[in-house]
Amino acid sequence: MTNTIHLLVGTTSGNTEALADHVQAILESHDFNTEMHYEPTFDSLPTSGIWLIFLATHGAGDYADSMLDFYDVIAQADAPQLPDLKYAVCAIGESCYDTFCAAGRHCDDQLTNLRASRLFERLEIDMMEDDPEEKASQWIAQSIDKLRSYPQQ
Ligand SMILES: Cc1cc2nc3c(=O)[nH]c(=O)nc-3n(C[C@H](O)[C@H](O)[C@H](O)COP(=O)(O)O)c2cc1C
Repeated sequence: MTNTIHLLVGTTSGNTEALADHVQAILESHDFNTEMHYEPTFDSLPTSGIWLIFLATHGAGDYADSMLDFYDVIAQADAPQLPDLKYAVCAIGESCYDTFCAAGRHCDDQLTNLRASRLFERLEIDMMEDDPEEKASQWIAQSIDKLRSYPQQ
């Protein structure tokens, strides 16, 4: 058995969903089990194992619509601790905003505050400059061995 990797999608207009689907296909080609969460609510997610979070920033540094409920939980002062969770964040935004990738940065910091373990460094994708699929593919390719080193959850 290989690891199950939970992919969380924070999108408003769909770009991030397409990117997460692309990464899911890569992971499955490496024999990982994956589960997509297109509208992840905190209560619907396992609090152990691996989350890969794909999160676009909207508004003025806000989480994209599909993860607003998730935000409401993890941003609370009394949010649940996550000591058994491993995670990594792919933050999506546009560099023309002062709040470039602010949601992904917040999510990454907040999960660390809640005692989750960052598996690898955050990827920030600038939709104005980058080829998102190429950047995300490289990010995942560098991380396959690390993902494989965690036991089945
Ligand atoms: C109304 C609006 C507000 C945005 N605000 C930000 C922002 O504050 N920071 C940022 O980095 N990108 C911002 N963006 C850029 C989005 O993150 C980018 O368009 C992204 O591709 C949207 O992903 P999605 O299609 O998955 O929702 C904004 C886009 C829109 C349309």
